[in-house]
Amino acid sequence: MIIKYSAPLRGELSIPGDKSISHRSIMFGALAQGTTEISNFLTGADCLSTISCFRQMGIGIEQKENHVLVHGKGLHGLSAPSDTLDAGNSGTTVRLLSGILAGQSFASVITGDESIQKRPMKRIMTPLLGMGANISSVRGNDCAPLQIRGKKLHCAHYESPVASAQVKSCVLLAGLYADGITSVTEPAVSRNHSELMLRYFGADVRTELMSAKDRTKLLSAADSETKFNTDCVTQAMAYNEEYEGRPTVFITPEPVLKGQKVNVPGDISSAAYFIAAALLVPGSELLLKNVGINPTRDGMLRVCKSMGADITLLNEDYTGAEPCADLLVRSSHLKAATIEGDLIPTLIDELPILAVLAAFADGTTVIRDAAELRVKESDRIAVMTENLSRIGCPVEATPDGMIIEGGRPLHGATIDTQKDHRVAMSFAVAALACTGEMEIRDAECVNISYPGFYRDLAGVCR
Ligand code: S3P
Repeated sequence: MIIKYSAPLRGELSIPGDKSISHRSIMFGALAQGTTEISNFLTGADCLSTISCFRQMGIGIEQKENHVLVHGKGLHGLSAPSDTLDAGNSGTTVRLLSGILAGQSFASVITGDESIQKRPMKRIMTPLLGMGANISSVRGNDCAPLQIRGKKLHCAHYESPVASAQVKSCVLLAGLYADGITSVTEPAVSRNHSELMLRYFGADVRTELMSAKDRTKLLSAADSETKFNTDCVTQAMAYNEEYEGRPTVFITPEPVLKGQKVNVPGDISSAAYFIAAALLVPGSELLLKNVGINPTRDGMLRVCKSMGADITLLNEDYTGAEPCADLLVRSSHLKAATIEGDLIPTLIDELPILAVLAAFADGTTVIRDAAELRVKESDRIAVMTENLSRIGCPVEATPDGMIIEGGRPLHGATIDTQKDHRVAMSFAVAALACTGEMEIRDAECVNISYPGFYRDLAGVCR
């Protein structure tokens, strides 16, 4: 794909459905009784992988473009897949599904593409083993393929060392099949779509801020097999000298989930590329319709505003349990920012495009506390620094982030995306504000999360 300097971005655009919410609507719809009707479902390859895994387990799913009907069979209605489950490129599919599979009455194997087979799965195996699950890495390298022999699980309290919605959701889903209330604490709040949607489907899920002392009581009350994470509690106690409490989610097992209507809001992680493009190209004014603005996902908006971005929220509303709004974005002169701490989980997937914005902003942007970037679809710290250097931006990789010297004139180059959709879209946007041509290798990888991305981009560059 070759992309060149752009005319201003004008008009309006409806952003495709949220990827995280689309995955969950299929999963929870399958575990609910009755039909779940999903509108604005994301037809990206990742979400189609989730559909195909549930079809393999006997769930009837009718999909016509972004309208989907899931004929759920209840918590115990899945049947044994006759073949290995293929999650493709989707970490969300592997990690959330593993929590469900651990509590089934059948055995299964789940794997995915080359990138998935390199991503860390120990982070879900540890809590699942603590709940008594029978899960192992087939090659013994803590990566997929994962062999899971389903069984009745024990309830547990898990102190997650990472702020990861995939880990939290995996534990909560396993908790549906446990013998008591399961709880999970994370170091900072990660996206809460599972909690919101499970509650919407009828599960008893609540979130409380809990002190380390109270969480230690939870841990000792749980089955002795869950003592595996005592070390994490010690760390948490040290951390809590600064903070009163940490978010802790509780789930009651064996709820009766009921099929629902789900209207998926637009994905703020996809809107992010259009926000950035409109900010960067002088004279732009773009209206992005129906974008999810859940506070556990809106960190990019907060950072952009601190950089001087002109973004206005209009028509704020709710779709189901999820807040959404239209975003009016006008081109702006940007200055550097420091992006760190508890903000990181709220913009984790937007860090590649924020790095591009930083390259055009005045001053030095520092991104830290983001070591998770190294274990995404690619090592996003390595891939972004390599490609930002190619377009002429002085940038340094650190173990947990990047230091970006912004404000120099930047030029087109050949971008090696490593087949990472978010890298491809980030440099497609960078191209609009660079001199010369940008050549994006493996450009079709955008289909993972945004199949119509290049068409939509061309449509607003008038
Ligand atoms: C996701 C959680 C995040 C995010 C991913 C989707 C989810 O991953 O990066 O794109 O749907 O739960 P982590 O849980 O690894 O942070």
